[in-house]
Amino acid sequence: MLSISNLHAEIDGKPILKGLTLDVPAGEVHAIMGPNGAGKSTLSYVLTGRQGYEVTEGTATLDGEDLLALEPSERAARGVFLSFQYPLEIPGVPALTFIRTAMNAQRKARGEAEITAPAFLKLARTTAASLKIDFEMLKRALNVGFSGGEKKRMEIFQMAML
Ligand SMILES: Nc1ncnc2c1ncn2[C@@H]1O[C@H](COP(=O)(O)OP(=O)(O)OP(=O)(O)O)[C@@H](O)[C@H]1O
Ligand SMILES: [Mg+2]
Repeated sequence: MLSISNLHAEIDGKPILKGLTLDVPAGEVHAIMGPNGAGKSTLSYVLTGRQGYEVTEGTATLDGEDLLALEPSERAARGVFLSFQYPLEIPGVPALTFIRTAMNAQRKARGEAEITAPAFLKLARTTAASLKIDFEMLKRALNVGFSGGEKKRMEIFQMAML
């Protein structure tokens, strides 16, 4: 359960979030809608720990643990994932290498062993198939030359794998 209570946050001294309270129980999908500039991205950045966003009041916990006290990488290891509005292209880094490195970094942070190559490939194949992603695409450099929709699909793939 993600639990946000009376969350206030500001950027460069400008208050953006002014007392947001929201519970997202495990297994539920919630969409937050609002006008441009309302603070939706700001909320995402605060929850993931982006630099420059200062929480001035309130709390955010994930399964009872204080999310705001953790480093961004520690939040990621607990399952927090933020997708990009404009996914970055990373020439020279195959998508599979990228995702495997990220998975293993998270497993290490959780005190788990690295995933074996066969187990990783099997998981990547079944996950790609479930998202209708051509496995061959995962061998290309991350997002380089991918269409807009393919980039978004790649992000969902990363989220599913992690
Ligand atoms: N460094 C900054 N200094 C002052 N205001 C800022 C700064 N960075 C962002 N803002 C403002 O914070 C407000 C919230 O922006 P945010 O990106 O969270 O909105 P949003 O709800 O995601 O909007 P959209 O629907 O357009 O994506 C905006 O008015 C934005 O201009
Ligand atoms: Mg936004």
